[in-house]
Amino acid sequence: MTGQSDARFEDLLDRAARLLREASRAYAFTGAGVSTESGIPDFRSPGTGLWPNPELLALATGDAFRRDPVRFYRTFIPQWLKYREAEPNPAHRALAELEAMGKLAGVITQNIDGLHRKAGSRTVWEVHGHLRRLVCSDCRADAPFETATEALEKETLPPRCTCGGVLRPDVVLFGEAMAPDYERAFAVLRQGCDLMLVVGSSLTVYPAAFLVELARDLVIVNRDPTPYDDRAAVVLRGKAGEILPRLVAAVKAA
Ligand code: APR
Ligand code: ZN
Repeated sequence: MTGQSDARFEDLLDRAARLLREASRAYAFTGAGVSTESGIPDFRSPGTGLWPNPELLALATGDAFRRDPVRFYRTFIPQWLKYREAEPNPAHRALAELEAMGKLAGVITQNIDGLHRKAGSRTVWEVHGHLRRLVCSDCRADAPFETATEALEKETLPPRCTCGGVLRPDVVLFGEAMAPDYERAFAVLRQGCDLMLVVGSSLTVYPAAFLVELARDLVIVNRDPTPYDDRAAVVLRGKAGEILPRLVAAVKAA
């Protein structure tokens, strides 16, 4: 654990476990860092993050998609196929276990990789959308994601709806409105959230990060510092895939 001695870390882990045990409405809030141990790069980690690549960042906007959907699909489909083939890691499974134990009421994720559902989490709000289907830019009809992969293989990009409209991924691109799950999660948290377990997010992107402000207490599990660390009841520095299973064990041990 970087920067935290083992004894101190054990003490912090016990404190986090106690907060989870005592919480009546605990949620998890996750970012790309919960999926890096599944082989999916995050966005802002020095050296491995995606966004320092200015070409990728410039392409990940609603305007760029409308301007050149073929280039958009050619750039992102290969990456998204890796997301869809990825497997949940111990961090995803630990969150699903906490939900099954009745200690977590749901997971709010910024990730579009679908790994929380794949790990068995049943209540998941995907505030930046997901990769399960495409949506028609004109008539809003939806189509399976495979429509895009077929169009890539057959060189018939962009994928089109039966109405002729261009099909787009059901994800939130920069400059676009949040997915419907954002309002759903917001409404649920407004009813009460005494603990938010933040896992693998730089907490630098809004409005998603606003959701964290609705929690009474924060427990942050993250490899690097975040702007919310000084407001957190507990910060556990390190890899989510190692820390979360230890957190579940500590919750069980009581
Ligand atoms: N364990 C714990 N933390 C990790 C791990 C790991 N294995 N790997 C990375 N991290 C941490 C990094 O230290 C970093 O602080 O996860 C965080 C990931 O931050 P970002 O890359 O900014 O990802 P995220 O917070 O999800 O970004 C939010 O920005 O570009 C948009 O739509 C995109 O949903 C994304 C949003
Ligand atoms: Zn259509």
